[in-house]
Parts: sequence; structure tokens; C-alpha cells
Amino acid sequence: MTTQIVSTSPIEGQKPGTSGLRKKTKVFMQPHYLENYVQAIFDGIDGIAGKTLVVGGDGRYFNDKAIGTILRMAAANGAAKCIVGQGGLLSTPAASNLIRKRGADGGLILSASHNPGGPDEDFGLKYNGPNGGPANEAVTEKIFARTKAIEAYKITEAGHIDLETIGTASLADMAIEIVDPVADYAELMESLFDFAAISQLFESGFTVCFDAMHAITGPYAKAILEDRLGAPAGTVRNGTPLPDFGGGHPDPNPVWAKELMQTMYGDDAPDFGAASDGDGDRNMIVGSHCYVSPSDSLAVLTDLAHRAPGYATGLAGVARSMPTSAAADRVAEAKGIAAFETPTGWKFFGNLLDAGRATICGEESAGTGSNHVREKDGLWAVLLWLNILAVTQKSVLQTMADHWKKYGRNYYSRHDYEAVDADAANGLMDALRGQLDTLAGQEIAGLKVTSADEFSYNDPVDGSVSTGQGIRIGFEGGGRVVFRLSGTGTAGATLRVYLERLETRPDHLDHDPQTALAPIIAAAQEVADIHGRTGRGAPDVIT
Ligand code: G6P
Ligand code: ZN
Repeated sequence: MTTQIVSTSPIEGQKPGTSGLRKKTKVFMQPHYLENYVQAIFDGIDGIAGKTLVVGGDGRYFNDKAIGTILRMAAANGAAKCIVGQGGLLSTPAASNLIRKRGADGGLILSASHNPGGPDEDFGLKYNGPNGGPANEAVTEKIFARTKAIEAYKITEAGHIDLETIGTASLADMAIEIVDPVADYAELMESLFDFAAISQLFESGFTVCFDAMHAITGPYAKAILEDRLGAPAGTVRNGTPLPDFGGGHPDPNPVWAKELMQTMYGDDAPDFGAASDGDGDRNMIVGSHCYVSPSDSLAVLTDLAHRAPGYATGLAGVARSMPTSAAADRVAEAKGIAAFETPTGWKFFGNLLDAGRATICGEESAGTGSNHVREKDGLWAVLLWLNILAVTQKSVLQTMADHWKKYGRNYYSRHDYEAVDADAANGLMDALRGQLDTLAGQEIAGLKVTSADEFSYNDPVDGSVSTGQGIRIGFEGGGRVVFRLSGTGTAGATLRVYLERLETRPDHLDHDPQTALAPIIAAAQEVADIHGRTGRGAPDVIT
């Protein structure tokens, strides 16, 4: 087998965003596009000679072909071994676990997460480091720098590469080990949770509906919930991963997981519902007639995780992204554990987890996870909830009511304006930035502003500083609005407006969040002139 050195030149726009490089699939399929980026990753991490990498993806269109290219390039670049999920499949948390468990030097995860898949939809590729987590900004900067200077890439000529047969084969001088994508992950879950208690809960008639949204968690959820824990067949819906996710949008929120929401708010609703995203790292939790917002879910898990064996000794701390509500902070304060506020993006939790300063982390964007891997983990959150409910014997509705009674309720909502003209979106952010010094003390739509700033993060572990991480405006009485542009979109700009208000009066805890937040929504509209600047009368997605 011969190694080819292929001449190439830099391709513009290969800058990794919040979570790796995400582009339209057709962009990724252009000649040299994937190859340039893969070589830039290898060069950006100082080469891969003699190294072991984990490789897998969420099964979306182009997953298998891209894996073939990556393996041929890894062999040509002198890697010792690639560990690959059978069929090229690995959920993001399972990939993180494999990197850690096998002591690999890192991994390449192919996914555009919750974005739709298919020839006309999205594709993505991200590098995770030896701790199993997404590369930090210093590394992604190096990778980006390489994309701008690349002159050639190396690739091994090879015929068909077998991704189906479990076991080890070789490609030139590199070993390819094909592994069962589920086994190691299922074992890890069993080490953290009381499977006997969850089985008993199911035996007692507690019903669950898990919507895998035709994405990667299907095989994982079937193996764990149905085969190991004994939930009836059919508990897992849409459980076969499809290259286009059945034409859907594999994003677990009330808008995209509508079918599940209808089930959970219908007659005879199951006791517990959950969904995960394209690559298995996000989660949505919904009880019978009770949707749990991701921010609230993080707070409940922070409060009750010690009910599961893996967390029985308590938590060192909890970390949340800045736009996530402060609900978890209130629990942390009551428990006397540390609370951290980081920029959006799971990679910012890595240092806190590695240093043992945070045990559980979460984001408003439907991500929750812990120190068991270095990615957020959809099924983990589902199993922790089930373990807690098995012990407390409460419904989701009761759990939430009790939580709000004890800690107050941080009413929360996110309004997204999608595919906005990029100049208009940047103009809106610039105009807000220009007002930051003068906003405090002013009254906006009847609310007095108490603080206004642009979030920047000083990493307490490595001292790195990340600026420009979202504009936040605080109001008298504890309300808050945050404005941020998404780093994961693939068309135009997505403006995210995060709205929050704390309510502690016991008779005001069960309102509709949109109603409870109406004054903050009005103030957000006025201060940013969203309508005037974007031409949009209403958000595209409300979560
Ligand atoms: C990905 C990251 C998350 C992040 C989310 C939101 O899913 O893994 O950590 O919270 O994107 O990103 P965005 O920039 O679109 O708001
Ligand atoms: Zn995801």
C-alpha cells in the first residue's frame, strides 16, 4: 500500500466553532475539503505518529465515507491504531468514554449534533483530546492556523475498509480495531447507577417513552433500557439511526420533539419521557404533563444526584454555562458546594472536571453531564433521573413542585431568531455593546437596569481568558436577559435571547414561563430593537 502526498491549498472558512467544524454536507464533500481539515487537525496536535485515535460518528449521511478517508489519512500519517465503532457509529459520550478507557491520544467525532443530516443538510467533525473532551481554544486555534497554511496532505491508497467485523485488522502499518459501540458505555452506566432499583421501578408499572429521533441513541437506549433494565419493547421509539434522521431535526426540545411532547401531554401519558439528539449528548426530560427545562433539570440533578451510587459521596461543585439559569447556583449555595459560570460550549467544563472542582455540569441547550466522561451525555441524564425517581418514588411533576417550593423557581425561556442576516445580527450586538456603559440606572419598558456587561471568562484552572461571550443585562428584582450569537449555525446568524426571572412567592410557582417572563421579553425587545434590526416580528423557536 502506498502513501500519497497530495498537493492542496488552504480553503477558507475552516474555523472550528462552538463544537468543531460544521458545514453543509456538500461543502464537506468538495474535493480536498475534508482532507485539508483532517490534515490540519493532525498537524495542529503535533502529528499523530505512533498515536492511538478513537473514530466514530452519529451515522449521518457521509459518515462512513468520511471515516474511510480519515482512516486512510491516519495510516498515512503514521498512527499506530484507530479504534472505531462498528459501522462507524459512536455516540459522542461513548466516544469520550472510549478515549478515556483505552488511554487513547484523542479522537475524531463526526457529527453536526442536533442539526439535520443528509446530502442537503449538515455535517461536522471535531477533535477531542486525550481527556476525552472537546479540544480547548488553544488547540482549535492551532488547527485553524494549519488550515490557513496547508500545502499537502497524506493519504494511503486502499480498497474497501471493513467497518462491520468486530476485531482488529490492519491498514498499511496501522491497526484498525472495530468495537461494539454500546458495550463499554453500557458498562460505565451500570457502574454509576442502581440498575436493580431502576428495573424494579419498571416492574412496578412505571412507564417510559424514549424518543431516539432516528439518531444514534437508538441502539444505546434499546440495549440499556429494554435489554438490561427490562423496560417493555417499544419503550424506545424511532430507535434505528438513519442517515437523514428520517428527515427530522434531531434536537430534543419541545419544538422538534413534538411527537414526544404530544404523548407526554396526552391522555394516558407515560410517567416519564425523554429524547436525545443526533449524536447522543443532549437530553430532554419530560414527565407526564410536566416539561422540565434543561436549567431546572441541572438544578434537580445537583440537588439529588447523591441518591445514585456513583454520586453517593456528594458533589465537589456544579458548573453551568453563563446563559443557563441560576437555578443550580441556588442549590449549590444551599449545599455549600462550589458553583462555576463558564462560556457556552462544553469544552469550557473540561478543566473544572479534570481538576476535580466540578462534578456535574449543564447548559440551557439541553446538555447535562458529569465527570464520568468529558462530554455532555443524554442517556446518562435520563438514567440519573430514573435512578432518583426510583429512590424517591415521586413523579416528575411532584419533584419539580417540591424543588421550586424549596429553592424558588427561575422562570426561563430562550427565544431564537434563526438565519438572520449576519450584518444585521452583528449590528444588533454592536449597538448593545455601545450602550453597556450607560444602561445601568435606566428604565427599559418599565424595568430598571441594575447591571450591563459583556461576559468574559477567566478559567480558574489554566488562567486562560475568553472574551466576548455574550451580553447580559440585569434588572431590578432579579430578572436578566442575555444576548448571544450562536456558534453552531451553518446559515446566516442565529440570535439567541435568553430570558430569566426568579420567583419565590409560593403561590406564583406554576405560571406559564412566557407569561411570567413577559416584562423581561418586552425589555429585551426594546433595548436591542430586535424587530427593527432583524425585521423579525417573532422568534423562530421558543424553548
Ligand atoms: C453545542 C455545544 C454545547 C453548546 C451548544 C450551543 O451543542 O456542544 O456545549 O451549548 O452547542 O451552541 P450555540 O453556539 O449554537 O448556542
Ligand atoms: Zn449533540
